[in-house]
Parts: sequence; C-alpha cells; structure tokens
Amino acid sequence: MGCSTRTVKKSWVSLSLVASILCWSAVSAQLTPNFYNKTCPQALPIVKAAITQALSQEARMGASLLRLHFHDCFVNGCDGSILLDDTTTFRGEKSAGANANSARGFEVIDNIKTQIEKVCSGVVSCADILALATRDSVVELGGPSWNVTLGRRDSRTASLSGANTNLPGPTSSLTSLISAFQAQGLSAKDMIALSGAHTIGQSRCQFFRSRIYNESNIDKAFAASLQKNCPFNGAGDSNLAPLDSTTANGFDNNYYKNLRSQKGVFHSDQELFNGGSADAQVTTYSTDQQAFFTDFAASMVRMGNIKPLTGTQGEIRKNCRRIN
Ligand code: HEM
Ligand SMILES: *[C@@H]1O[C@H](CO)[C@@H](O)[C@H](O)[C@H]1NC(C)=O
Ligand SMILES: *[C@@H]1O[C@H](CO)[C@@H](O)[C@H](O)[C@H]1NC(C)=O
Ligand SMILES: *[C@@H]1O[C@H](CO)[C@@H](O)[C@H](O)[C@H]1NC(C)=O
Repeated sequence: MGCSTRTVKKSWVSLSLVASILCWSAVSAQLTPNFYNKTCPQALPIVKAAITQALSQEARMGASLLRLHFHDCFVNGCDGSILLDDTTTFRGEKSAGANANSARGFEVIDNIKTQIEKVCSGVVSCADILALATRDSVVELGGPSWNVTLGRRDSRTASLSGANTNLPGPTSSLTSLISAFQAQGLSAKDMIALSGAHTIGQSRCQFFRSRIYNESNIDKAFAASLQKNCPFNGAGDSNLAPLDSTTANGFDNNYYKNLRSQKGVFHSDQELFNGGSADAQVTTYSTDQQAFFTDFAASMVRMGNIKPLTGTQGEIRKNCRRIN
C-alpha cells in the first residue's frame, strides 16, 4: 500500500486525517510534537496545569509518573497498557513484580483524562497524556525539557508476562541492565542516562535490603542510615527511602555523584559505578549536569518512541483504566 511516511511527516498537521484514512495498514507512521495542535490545542496546557497542581500537593508524584511512563514503554511500547485495571476476565500489568504495591500516579492521569475529554472527546490518548505528564513533571522538579512526540494510541490489551520479563529488577547486573535496554532498542548510553531518573523518588525497603546489609561496595554511614528504617528481619518492607538522599525531590546530577561515593540505593544503581564499562559516563554526568540533562532529554524521546500504536491501531480510550 503506497503510504509514504516522508509525505506524512512533511505536512502532518494538514494531512493527518487523510493519512489515517488512506494508510489503513501504515505501521511506520511517525509521532510528532504538533499532533494535537489542531485537534486539541488545550491538551498540553491542561496537562501542565494539572502537573503543577499535583506536584504542589506531593512532589514525589513527579517521580511516580516518570516511572509509570518507563514501565509503560518497556512492555509492548508506549501504549498506555500499564494504566489498564484488572477485571474478573482480564489480568493486566499492575500486579507484575515491578508494579505491585509500587506503581502509582494513576489518579493524576485519570484527572487529566477527565479534563481533556470534556474539551476534546475521544482525541487524546492516555499514552500521550502519560508522556506529557512525565515531561512536565521533570521540568517542574528542575530537570531538562524536551518536545514530547505525540500521536500514540492506546492498546486494547496489556501483558503481565511482558511486564515481568522486560522490566529490570534492582538486583540486576550491569550486563543484564544493558541487555534489558538493548531489547527495547536503547543503547547502554541511554540506559546510563535514563537511570539518572533515580535522582528523584522513593524506594521501598524490600528493594534495597540486601544491598544495605550484604554488600561491601556501599558507604558505611549511608548503609547505616538506611538500615534505621529498613530492618534486617523482613519487617518494614514498604518503608521508604529517597533514591537520592542529597536532594530527594530535585532533578539534578546528584544521583551520579552519589554513585561515585558508593551511595547507590540499589545493587543495580551501584553497578553503573563499580569498575565497569559505565564508570566513565557516570563520571562525566557527575561533573557536568548539562551533559546529563541533554542526554537524558534525548533518551527520553527515544524511550517515548518505543513501538507506538499509530494510525488506526489500538484506540483512544475514553477512560484510561479500561478499553472502550
Ligand atoms: C535501570 C534499571 C532500573 C531498575 C532496576 C529500577 C528499579 C527501581 C525500583 C526497584 C524502584 C523502587 C520502586 C518502589 O519501591 O516502589 C524504582 C523507583 C523509581 N524508578 Fe527505577 N529502575 C530502573 C530504571 C529506571 C528508569 C529508566 C526510570 C525512568 C526513566 C526510572 C524511574 C524511577 C523513578 C522516578 C522511581 C521513583 C518512583 C516513586 O517515587 O514513586 N527507573 N526503580
Ligand atoms: C504546536 O503547539 C505547541 C504547544 O502549544 C507549540 O509550541 C508549537 O509552536 C505549535 N506548533 C505549530 C506548528 O503550530
Ligand atoms: C522544541 O522544538 C522547537 C521547535 O522545533 C525548538 O525551537 C525548541 O528548542 C525545542 N525545545 C526543546 C526543549 O528541545
Ligand atoms: C544476606 O546474605 C546472607 C548469606 O547469603 C543471607 O542469609 C541473608 O538472608 C542476606 N540478608 C539480606 C537482608 O539479604
């Protein structure tokens, strides 16, 4: 079927409707930052205002939304699959090991979706709302900005097994971190830059207990301070500690500085500075915040472009928690 992505790209705004009618089988359509300029110009301002509001109530919410977008994109692409609730006949991604009792921010997405549906019903996908909410959160917390590519559509399904397989765990080695990102078309460099997301947010004790009691490449005073609120014996699994103990809610390069002083919270974090191939890039980011910001923004765009549903694939959900 003759459907030139080049033509579509050049004059996307005016041709998008025509393109979606003509290109039933298009699979290579591009996302573009201007996707909603004509069809829902209110979308971006609504997301921005809602994020400012949500983060003024709880700064951590910015971290939670960023992680949600990551967990969406790594399971069959950025298609809003993580937002689907379980039902009696359907098990989605929310109960996966990396998400259960942990993924959060769904109410913020619901609130934005409700507001956007009121002004342009059936136009803006949940996957795009999550991508925008993530960018606005990072900016609100002091991090870099980027132009969010748009035009993703929402999945009509989700994959619990994909979530359990694709999302790297906190005990991962450097080698397995690199391969988990490579499986998504992202490089080792992307992985090191995106891991800088751990400059914000919190972790449950269960994910770092073995590191603070059993590992030797950890700053002793740092381990002792985390141990106070994370008992050895298995109680307090859900007790929280900041991923960046220096500036918990500030998006900056302290994550990399922490790694250089053996203050990575997860085993997987410290793998990025443990005498291996990631050390040099960590050192660069630890001394050059601008280099980190530039690379993080570029890697976020690449992560956001993982396998989107476009054209007539999937749907625009009315409610992000269930298929139409
Ligand atoms: C490189 C492999 C990664 C591993 C092993 C990993 C693992 C984890 C774990 C175990 C938590 C704690 C969750 C909890 O206690 O509820 C966490 C939190 C977080 N992760 Fe990652 N992560 C990785 C990469 C990423 C990436 C690529 C991003 C985003 C681009 C990200 C963003 C976050 C954020 C912002 C939080 C804090 C969430 C909150 O406070 O609600 N992580 N991560
Ligand atoms: C589309 O909208 C965005 C955000 O409102 C704006 O920055 C951009 O300049 C607009 N682009 C066009 C081509 O109108
Ligand atoms: C977004 O795109 C516009 C127009 O192409 C450009 O002027 C601007 O610098 C970009 N912003 C970022 C943060 O990359
Ligand atoms: C630490 O390692 C020991 C020996 O392998 C193990 O028995 C113990 O459960 C581990 N403790 C934690 C908190 O991981």
